[in-house]
Amino acid sequence: SSNGNTEKERTLAMIKPDGVVGNYSEAIRKVVVDSGFSICKEMTIQLDEDRASIFYSEHSSKSFFSSLIRYMTSGPVLVMVLEKDNAITDWRTLIGPTDASKAKITHPHSIRAMCGQDSQRNCVHGSDSLQSAEREISFFFDDKYSCETVTIHDEL
Ligand code: TYD
Ligand code: MG
Repeated sequence: SSNGNTEKERTLAMIKPDGVVGNYSEAIRKVVVDSGFSICKEMTIQLDEDRASIFYSEHSSKSFFSSLIRYMTSGPVLVMVLEKDNAITDWRTLIGPTDASKAKITHPHSIRAMCGQDSQRNCVHGSDSLQSAEREISFFFDDKYSCETVTIHDEL
């Protein structure tokens, strides 16, 4: 490019309370790094009811919502900003389908198959679109530019 700047895609990944309590954080970090993602930023945080409800507000009318909020506030979560080309889709592919009990059959190598239990206790989260990724990253991290843009100097 003319100015040499490239910007890779970013997504928000989260290890949910069952993943943290079950001691899967290191195994998941290894999969992340081995799959070519950079971990730009990470933070362990205890969500309260208000914050969990805002994070999952798109599901507020669902029958599982109150149970989901109870689960998401049951212990700390580890949130990570991941960066690579095609990060959003590639992370969703890596975590597998929402229902971890089905993932164990249809996507046995997925992260949810490795550490999830069912359609609620599914161990990890991943943003589902560019818009969600931007919202979810800024939901947890105030410094939008903490993950520095890589500058490539074009050869003459
Ligand atoms: P959803 O956005 O459908 O799945 P995903 O996490 O794969 O994007 O649902 C959000 C979360 O809501 C899901 O990770 C766990 C919870 N959930 C339930 O508790 N019960 C359910 O039946 C579903 C579909 C989701
Ligand atoms: Mg979703």
